[in-house]
Amino acid sequence: MEFRQVIRRRRMVRDYEQRPLDTEVVRRVLEAGLRAPSAGFTQGWAFLVCDTPQTVARFWAAATPPAAGTDRWSQGMRRAPVVVVALSSKQAYLDRYARADKSGADRGEAAWPVPYWDVDTGMAALLMLLSAVDEGLAACFFGVPGERVDDLRGEFGVPATYRPVGAVTLGHPAADARAPAPRRGRKGVDDVVHHGHWGRTGYPAGNALPPPRAEPPR
Ligand SMILES: Cc1cc2nc3c(=O)[nH]c(=O)nc-3n(C[C@H](O)[C@H](O)[C@H](O)COP(=O)(O)O)c2cc1C
Repeated sequence: MEFRQVIRRRRMVRDYEQRPLDTEVVRRVLEAGLRAPSAGFTQGWAFLVCDTPQTVARFWAAATPPAAGTDRWSQGMRRAPVVVVALSSKQAYLDRYARADKSGADRGEAAWPVPYWDVDTGMAALLMLLSAVDEGLAACFFGVPGERVDDLRGEFGVPATYRPVGAVTLGHPAADARAPAPRRGRKGVDDVVHHGHWGRTGYPAGNALPPPRAEPPR
């Protein structure tokens, strides 16, 4: 599929067929995630894959409140044959940036402009979402409630140094699954892009900019 088409088609799908996925396909989606960039090439992420009815059921039992499960969202999502929990390790980044080639940084958290561990894991999750579309599948990224994190860790033996950034359902979309149009509508370039100075919103369409200089021959 054309890359642009993959981007345009990607939507969070919350209703699946109860049909298992080929492990080869799941592996390709996971591998795509691992192509994500990471600060200091730390790769301080980990992915817990639940791909059997038993492990998927254990995921939902651990990661959602006891009363959940009967609403439309839960029913559609719980049919997904695969759930990938994306976890980040802050410790991995603190350790990596304390190494000699990153001198100047310490192991403290205060020096971090943003939590790169979560940024990187989010990027990996996005590549999985895009890769799912490329494979003709559907996916949805969703959050794990903070109060369920300990239960989730306990259920699957996840060490305390790893925290779930979110989870991704993967599967074949239900025949009539259509992601609802986001209520607020998607923001456009004129809404959120500031061209050269804050407040100069938008960006030229078409060929208003000079073409990039040709690369010198090697
Ligand atoms: C960090 C993050 C957390 C999200 N959490 C949830 C969630 O808990 N449940 C859910 O149904 N969708 C969740 N979403 C999906 C968003 O609702 C969705 O991306 C947004 O409405 C735009 O729709 P689209 O992704 O289909 O274009 C989350 C997305 C992100 C990036």
